[in-house]
Amino acid sequence: MDDLRQKYIDAIANAADEGALEQLRLQAVGKKGEISLKMRELGKMTPEERQVAGPALNALKDEINSALAGKKAALADAALEERLRGEWLDVTLPVRPRRQGTIHPVSQVTEEVTAIFADMGFAVAEGPQIESDWYNFDALNIPPEHPARQEHDTFFMHRAEGDNRPPHVLRTHTSPVQIRAMQAQGAPIRVIAPGRVYRCDYDQTHTPMFHQVEGLAIDKDISMANLKWVLEEFCRAFFEIDEVELRFRASHFPFTEPSAEVDIRCSWDNGTLKLGEGDDWLEILGSGMVHPKVLAAGGIDPNEYQGFAFGVGIDRIAMLKYGIPDLRAFFDSDLRWLRHYGFAALDVPTLHAGLSR
Ligand code: PHE
Repeated sequence: MDDLRQKYIDAIANAADEGALEQLRLQAVGKKGEISLKMRELGKMTPEERQVAGPALNALKDEINSALAGKKAALADAALEERLRGEWLDVTLPVRPRRQGTIHPVSQVTEEVTAIFADMGFAVAEGPQIESDWYNFDALNIPPEHPARQEHDTFFMHRAEGDNRPPHVLRTHTSPVQIRAMQAQGAPIRVIAPGRVYRCDYDQTHTPMFHQVEGLAIDKDISMANLKWVLEEFCRAFFEIDEVELRFRASHFPFTEPSAEVDIRCSWDNGTLKLGEGDDWLEILGSGMVHPKVLAAGGIDPNEYQGFAFGVGIDRIAMLKYGIPDLRAFFDSDLRWLRHYGFAALDVPTLHAGLSR
Protein backbone atom coordinates (compact mmCIF):
# COMPACT_ATOMS: atom_id res chain seq x y z
CA MET A 1 0.00 0.00 0.00
CA ASP A 2 2.95 2.27 0.64
CA ASP A 3 4.13 1.74 -2.93
CA LEU A 4 0.69 2.59 -4.23
CA ARG A 5 0.65 5.72 -2.15
CA GLN A 6 4.08 6.86 -3.29
CA LYS A 7 3.29 6.15 -6.93
CA TYR A 8 0.17 8.31 -7.01
CA ILE A 9 1.38 11.13 -4.79
CA ASP A 10 4.44 11.57 -7.01
CA ALA A 11 2.46 11.30 -10.22
CA ILE A 12 -0.05 13.89 -9.01
CA ALA A 13 2.71 16.29 -8.01
CA ASN A 14 4.20 15.99 -11.50
CA ALA A 15 0.95 16.17 -13.50
CA ALA A 16 1.38 18.71 -16.29
CA ASP A 17 -2.23 19.73 -16.76
CA GLU A 18 -5.85 19.06 -15.80
CA GLY A 19 -6.15 16.31 -18.40
CA ALA A 20 -3.26 14.35 -16.90
CA LEU A 21 -4.74 14.90 -13.45
CA GLU A 22 -8.09 13.47 -14.52
CA GLN A 23 -6.33 10.45 -15.99
CA LEU A 24 -4.64 9.85 -12.64
CA ARG A 25 -7.90 10.23 -10.78
CA LEU A 26 -9.56 7.55 -12.92
CA GLN A 27 -6.53 5.29 -12.59
CA ALA A 28 -6.45 5.55 -8.80
CA VAL A 29 -9.89 6.22 -7.37
CA GLY A 30 -12.19 5.96 -10.40
CA LYS A 31 -14.75 3.14 -10.52
CA LYS A 32 -12.19 0.74 -11.94
CA GLY A 33 -9.22 2.45 -10.34
CA GLU A 34 -6.50 0.57 -8.55
CA ILE A 35 -7.62 1.63 -5.10
CA SER A 36 -11.27 0.99 -5.78
CA LEU A 37 -10.42 -2.53 -6.94
CA LYS A 38 -8.43 -3.10 -3.79
CA MET A 39 -11.44 -2.00 -1.75
CA ARG A 40 -13.56 -4.61 -3.46
CA GLU A 41 -11.16 -7.27 -2.24
CA LEU A 42 -12.01 -6.36 1.35
CA GLY A 43 -14.99 -8.72 1.16
CA LYS A 44 -12.74 -11.70 0.63
CA MET A 45 -10.57 -10.95 3.67
CA THR A 46 -10.87 -12.34 7.14
CA PRO A 47 -12.47 -9.94 9.64
CA GLU A 48 -9.10 -9.33 11.27
CA GLU A 49 -7.44 -8.49 7.98
CA ARG A 50 -10.34 -6.28 7.00
CA GLN A 51 -10.11 -4.31 10.24
CA VAL A 52 -6.61 -3.22 9.32
CA ALA A 53 -6.91 -2.91 5.53
CA GLY A 54 -10.31 -1.11 5.47
CA PRO A 55 -9.33 2.07 7.35
CA ALA A 56 -5.93 2.14 5.64
CA LEU A 57 -7.48 2.02 2.16
CA ASN A 58 -10.01 4.70 3.08
CA ALA A 59 -7.26 6.94 4.43
CA LEU A 60 -5.27 6.41 1.25
CA LYS A 61 -8.28 7.25 -0.90
CA ASP A 62 -8.84 10.47 1.09
CA GLU A 63 -5.20 11.38 0.81
CA ILE A 64 -5.17 10.90 -2.95
CA ASN A 65 -8.39 12.82 -3.38
CA SER A 66 -7.08 15.79 -1.47
CA ALA A 67 -3.76 15.66 -3.36
CA LEU A 68 -5.79 15.74 -6.60
CA ALA A 69 -7.84 18.74 -5.41
CA GLY A 70 -4.73 20.57 -4.23
CA LYS A 71 -2.94 20.02 -7.51
CA LYS A 72 -6.01 21.08 -9.48
CA ALA A 73 -6.18 24.38 -7.62
CA ALA A 74 -2.45 24.93 -8.12
CA LEU A 75 -2.77 24.30 -11.85
CA ALA A 76 -5.69 26.76 -12.09
CA ASP A 77 -3.66 29.38 -10.20
CA ALA A 78 -0.71 28.88 -12.52
CA ALA A 79 -2.97 29.18 -15.57
CA LEU A 80 -4.43 32.44 -14.26
CA GLU A 81 -0.98 33.79 -13.49
CA GLU A 82 0.14 32.91 -16.98
CA ARG A 83 -2.91 34.60 -18.53
CA LEU A 84 -2.47 37.73 -16.42
CA ARG A 85 1.17 37.93 -17.51
CA GLY A 86 0.09 37.57 -21.15
CA GLU A 87 -2.61 40.24 -20.91
CA TRP A 88 -0.57 42.69 -18.93
CA LEU A 89 -0.91 46.23 -20.20
CA ASP A 90 1.05 49.25 -19.09
CA VAL A 91 -1.62 51.91 -18.73
CA THR A 92 0.98 54.35 -17.47
CA LEU A 93 2.56 54.61 -20.91
CA PRO A 94 2.62 58.26 -21.96
CA VAL A 95 0.61 59.26 -25.03
CA ARG A 96 2.49 59.29 -28.29
CA PRO A 97 3.69 62.80 -29.00
CA ARG A 98 2.06 62.88 -32.43
CA ARG A 99 -1.68 63.27 -31.87
CA GLN A 100 -3.38 60.26 -33.42
CA GLY A 101 -7.06 61.04 -33.28
CA THR A 102 -9.63 63.39 -31.87
CA ILE A 103 -12.82 63.20 -29.88
CA HIS A 104 -15.87 63.65 -32.09
CA PRO A 105 -18.05 66.68 -31.27
CA VAL A 106 -20.99 64.37 -30.48
CA SER A 107 -18.91 62.54 -27.86
CA GLN A 108 -17.51 65.81 -26.55
CA VAL A 109 -20.95 67.41 -26.18
CA THR A 110 -22.39 64.25 -24.61
CA GLU A 111 -19.60 64.40 -22.02
CA GLU A 112 -20.21 68.09 -21.43
CA VAL A 113 -23.96 67.61 -20.97
CA THR A 114 -23.37 64.67 -18.65
CA ALA A 115 -20.93 66.67 -16.51
CA ILE A 116 -23.38 69.55 -16.17
CA PHE A 117 -26.35 67.39 -15.22
CA ALA A 118 -24.26 65.18 -12.94
CA ASP A 119 -23.48 68.34 -11.00
CA MET A 120 -27.23 68.87 -10.57
CA GLY A 121 -27.73 65.32 -9.31
CA PHE A 122 -28.85 63.61 -12.51
CA ALA A 123 -27.64 60.07 -13.23
CA VAL A 124 -27.31 58.61 -16.72
CA ALA A 125 -29.97 56.10 -17.86
CA GLU A 126 -29.98 54.01 -21.02
CA GLY A 127 -32.36 52.06 -23.22
CA PRO A 128 -32.16 49.98 -26.41
CA GLN A 129 -32.02 51.56 -29.86
CA ILE A 130 -34.30 48.84 -31.23
CA GLU A 131 -37.42 49.49 -29.22
CA SER A 132 -40.90 47.99 -29.04
CA ASP A 133 -43.65 50.26 -30.29
CA TRP A 134 -45.15 50.15 -26.82
CA TYR A 135 -42.14 51.91 -25.29
CA ASN A 136 -41.58 54.24 -28.23
CA PHE A 137 -45.24 55.22 -28.64
CA ASP A 138 -48.08 53.69 -26.60
CA ALA A 139 -46.52 54.17 -23.17
CA LEU A 140 -45.83 57.78 -24.15
CA ASN A 141 -49.51 58.37 -24.81
CA ILE A 142 -49.18 58.01 -28.56
CA PRO A 143 -51.85 55.40 -29.47
CA PRO A 144 -51.69 53.51 -32.81
CA GLU A 145 -53.71 55.95 -34.91
CA HIS A 146 -52.16 59.11 -33.43
CA PRO A 147 -50.84 61.52 -36.09
CA ALA A 148 -47.58 61.90 -34.16
CA ARG A 149 -46.66 58.41 -35.34
CA GLN A 150 -46.55 59.71 -38.91
CA GLU A 151 -44.59 62.82 -37.94
CA HIS A 152 -41.83 60.67 -36.54
CA ASP A 153 -40.89 59.10 -39.93
CA THR A 154 -40.30 55.84 -38.17
CA PHE A 155 -38.00 53.04 -39.34
CA PHE A 156 -39.76 49.73 -38.74
CA MET A 157 -37.97 46.45 -38.16
CA HIS A 158 -38.87 43.43 -40.26
CA ARG A 159 -41.22 40.79 -38.85
CA ALA A 160 -41.29 37.21 -40.07
CA GLU A 161 -44.10 36.40 -42.48
CA GLY A 162 -47.29 35.53 -40.62
CA ASP A 163 -46.13 37.26 -37.43
CA ASN A 164 -48.81 39.84 -36.87
CA ARG A 165 -47.44 41.48 -33.77
CA PRO A 166 -46.61 45.19 -34.20
CA PRO A 167 -43.03 45.49 -35.49
CA HIS A 168 -40.24 46.84 -33.35
CA VAL A 169 -38.94 50.26 -34.39
CA LEU A 170 -35.65 52.09 -34.33
CA ARG A 171 -36.44 54.47 -31.50
CA THR A 172 -37.49 57.84 -32.88
CA HIS A 173 -36.56 59.69 -29.69
CA THR A 174 -34.97 59.07 -26.28
CA SER A 175 -38.33 59.45 -24.52
CA PRO A 176 -38.89 55.66 -24.20
CA VAL A 177 -36.02 55.72 -21.71
CA GLN A 178 -38.35 57.74 -19.45
CA ILE A 179 -40.61 54.69 -19.18
CA ARG A 180 -37.70 52.30 -18.71
CA ALA A 181 -36.23 54.48 -15.95
CA MET A 182 -39.59 54.67 -14.16
CA GLN A 183 -40.02 50.91 -14.33
CA ALA A 184 -36.45 50.24 -13.24
CA GLN A 185 -36.19 52.60 -10.30
CA GLY A 186 -39.61 53.99 -9.41
CA ALA A 187 -40.00 57.51 -8.00
CA PRO A 188 -38.22 59.76 -7.21
CA ILE A 189 -36.09 59.98 -10.36
CA ARG A 190 -33.46 62.31 -11.71
CA VAL A 191 -31.91 61.02 -14.91
CA ILE A 192 -30.66 62.08 -18.29
CA ALA A 193 -30.57 59.65 -21.19
CA PRO A 194 -28.23 60.52 -24.03
CA GLY A 195 -28.20 58.32 -27.11
CA ARG A 196 -28.84 57.61 -30.75
CA VAL A 197 -32.25 58.03 -32.33
CA TYR A 198 -33.50 57.40 -35.87
CA ARG A 199 -35.86 59.11 -38.29
CA CYS A 200 -36.16 58.80 -42.03
CA ASP A 201 -35.04 62.31 -42.97
CA TYR A 202 -32.00 63.78 -44.73
CA ASP A 203 -30.94 67.40 -45.39
CA GLN A 204 -28.55 70.01 -44.02
CA THR A 205 -29.97 69.76 -40.51
CA HIS A 206 -31.39 66.20 -40.55
CA THR A 207 -29.73 62.80 -40.76
CA PRO A 208 -31.43 59.39 -40.44
CA MET A 209 -29.47 58.76 -37.26
CA PHE A 210 -28.90 61.56 -34.80
CA HIS A 211 -28.51 62.09 -31.04
CA GLN A 212 -30.75 63.33 -28.29
CA VAL A 213 -30.48 63.70 -24.56
CA GLU A 214 -33.62 63.15 -22.55
CA GLY A 215 -34.06 64.68 -19.10
CA LEU A 216 -36.48 63.40 -16.48
CA ALA A 217 -37.11 64.53 -12.91
CA ILE A 218 -39.92 63.03 -10.86
CA ASP A 219 -40.74 63.76 -7.25
CA LYS A 220 -43.57 64.89 -5.00
CA ASP A 221 -43.14 68.61 -5.44
CA ILE A 222 -41.88 69.34 -8.95
CA SER A 223 -43.15 72.19 -11.07
CA MET A 224 -42.52 73.98 -14.33
CA ALA A 225 -40.40 76.44 -12.30
CA ASN A 226 -37.92 73.65 -11.53
CA LEU A 227 -37.81 72.80 -15.22
CA LYS A 228 -37.07 76.40 -16.14
CA TRP A 229 -34.30 76.75 -13.57
CA VAL A 230 -32.64 73.49 -14.60
CA LEU A 231 -32.72 74.44 -18.28
CA GLU A 232 -31.36 77.94 -17.64
CA GLU A 233 -28.61 76.53 -15.47
CA PHE A 234 -27.84 74.01 -18.18
CA CYS A 235 -27.70 76.59 -20.99
CA ARG A 236 -25.48 78.93 -18.99
CA ALA A 237 -23.03 76.14 -18.26
CA PHE A 238 -23.19 74.49 -21.67
CA PHE A 239 -22.89 77.57 -23.86
CA GLU A 240 -20.37 79.03 -21.39
CA ILE A 241 -22.06 82.42 -21.20
CA ASP A 242 -23.15 84.38 -18.12
CA GLU A 243 -26.41 85.68 -19.47
CA VAL A 244 -29.00 83.44 -21.01
CA GLU A 245 -32.62 84.15 -21.59
CA LEU A 246 -35.03 81.37 -22.38
CA ARG A 247 -38.51 81.71 -23.80
CA PHE A 248 -41.07 79.01 -23.11
CA ARG A 249 -43.44 78.76 -26.06
CA ALA A 250 -46.66 76.76 -25.60
CA SER A 251 -46.48 73.62 -27.70
CA HIS A 252 -47.80 70.08 -27.81
CA PHE A 253 -46.28 66.70 -27.15
CA PRO A 254 -48.54 63.74 -26.36
CA PHE A 255 -46.34 62.76 -23.40
CA THR A 256 -46.25 66.11 -21.60
CA GLU A 257 -48.98 68.40 -20.35
CA PRO A 258 -48.48 71.32 -20.43
CA SER A 259 -45.78 71.26 -23.11
CA ALA A 260 -43.33 73.94 -24.08
CA GLU A 261 -40.75 74.41 -26.75
CA VAL A 262 -37.83 76.39 -25.44
CA ASP A 263 -36.08 79.14 -27.39
CA ILE A 264 -32.84 80.90 -26.47
CA ARG A 265 -32.25 84.62 -27.11
CA CYS A 266 -29.67 85.23 -29.82
CA SER A 267 -28.39 87.55 -32.53
CA TRP A 268 -27.25 86.82 -36.07
CA ASP A 269 -25.01 89.85 -36.72
CA ASN A 270 -23.09 89.47 -40.00
CA GLY A 271 -24.15 85.90 -40.18
CA THR A 272 -22.50 84.92 -36.92
CA LEU A 273 -24.65 83.52 -34.18
CA LYS A 274 -24.34 84.99 -30.68
CA LEU A 275 -26.31 83.46 -27.86
CA GLY A 276 -27.60 85.41 -24.87
CA GLU A 277 -28.08 88.73 -26.64
CA GLY A 278 -29.97 90.25 -29.59
CA ASP A 279 -33.53 90.20 -30.84
CA ASP A 280 -33.82 86.75 -32.33
CA TRP A 281 -34.92 83.46 -30.81
CA LEU A 282 -33.60 80.02 -31.61
CA GLU A 283 -35.48 76.86 -30.72
CA ILE A 284 -33.30 74.45 -28.76
CA LEU A 285 -35.51 71.83 -27.15
CA GLY A 286 -38.92 70.37 -26.30
CA SER A 287 -40.16 69.94 -22.76
CA GLY A 288 -43.09 69.83 -20.39
CA MET A 289 -44.65 68.26 -17.33
CA VAL A 290 -44.84 64.48 -17.65
CA HIS A 291 -48.38 63.45 -18.65
CA PRO A 292 -50.22 61.50 -15.90
CA LYS A 293 -50.86 58.66 -18.36
CA VAL A 294 -47.10 58.39 -18.97
CA LEU A 295 -46.40 58.19 -15.23
CA ALA A 296 -49.04 55.48 -14.94
CA ALA A 297 -47.54 53.56 -17.89
CA GLY A 298 -44.21 53.65 -16.04
CA GLY A 299 -45.85 52.31 -12.89
CA ILE A 300 -45.78 55.58 -10.95
CA ASP A 301 -48.90 56.92 -9.22
CA PRO A 302 -49.75 60.28 -10.86
CA ASN A 303 -51.77 61.28 -7.79
CA GLU A 304 -48.66 61.13 -5.67
CA TYR A 305 -45.91 62.18 -8.05
CA GLN A 306 -45.33 64.57 -10.90
CA GLY A 307 -42.30 65.57 -12.91
CA PHE A 308 -40.79 67.35 -15.85
CA ALA A 309 -39.13 66.01 -18.98
CA PHE A 310 -37.21 67.50 -21.83
CA GLY A 311 -35.47 66.37 -25.00
CA VAL A 312 -32.52 68.16 -26.59
CA GLY A 313 -30.82 67.45 -29.90
CA ILE A 314 -27.18 66.78 -29.06
CA ASP A 315 -25.98 67.32 -32.63
CA ARG A 316 -28.04 70.49 -32.82
CA ILE A 317 -26.53 72.08 -29.71
CA ALA A 318 -23.08 70.90 -30.87
CA MET A 319 -23.61 72.78 -34.15
CA LEU A 320 -24.72 75.89 -32.27
CA LYS A 321 -21.91 75.86 -29.74
CA TYR A 322 -19.07 75.01 -32.09
CA GLY A 323 -20.33 76.76 -35.22
CA ILE A 324 -20.67 73.64 -37.36
CA PRO A 325 -22.85 74.42 -40.38
CA ASP A 326 -23.85 71.02 -41.81
CA LEU A 327 -25.11 68.08 -39.79
CA ARG A 328 -24.42 65.54 -42.53
CA ALA A 329 -20.66 66.06 -42.16
CA PHE A 330 -20.90 64.71 -38.59
CA PHE A 331 -21.28 61.23 -39.99
CA ASP A 332 -19.06 61.33 -43.08
CA SER A 333 -15.87 60.26 -41.23
CA ASP A 334 -13.87 62.81 -43.23
CA LEU A 335 -10.49 63.07 -41.47
CA ARG A 336 -10.09 66.75 -42.34
CA TRP A 337 -13.43 67.51 -40.68
CA LEU A 338 -12.58 65.38 -37.67
CA ARG A 339 -9.21 67.12 -37.23
CA HIS A 340 -10.83 70.52 -37.56
CA TYR A 341 -13.82 70.02 -35.23
CA GLY A 342 -12.43 67.26 -33.01
CA PHE A 343 -11.25 67.64 -29.41
CA ALA A 344 -8.04 66.58 -27.72
CA ALA A 345 -8.46 63.12 -26.29
CA LEU A 346 -7.18 63.95 -22.82
CA ASP A 347 -9.22 67.10 -22.25
CA VAL A 348 -12.10 65.46 -20.46
CA PRO A 349 -14.83 68.07 -19.93
CA THR A 350 -15.40 68.87 -16.26
CA LEU A 351 -17.09 71.82 -14.63
CA HIS A 352 -14.07 72.78 -12.56
CA ALA A 353 -11.46 72.48 -15.33
CA GLY A 354 -13.68 73.96 -18.05
CA LEU A 355 -15.98 72.23 -20.46
CA SER A 356 -14.29 73.07 -23.77
CA ARG A 357 -10.72 74.27 -23.81
N1 PHE B 1 -39.31 63.40 -27.60
C1 PHE B 1 -39.52 64.75 -28.10
C2 PHE B 1 -38.94 64.80 -29.53
O1 PHE B 1 -38.19 63.96 -29.91
C3 PHE B 1 -38.81 65.78 -27.25
C4 PHE B 1 -39.39 65.90 -25.87
C5 PHE B 1 -38.89 65.14 -24.83
C6 PHE B 1 -40.43 66.76 -25.62
C7 PHE B 1 -39.42 65.24 -23.54
C8 PHE B 1 -40.98 66.88 -24.35
C9 PHE B 1 -40.45 66.12 -23.33
O2 PHE B 1 -39.27 65.69 -30.29
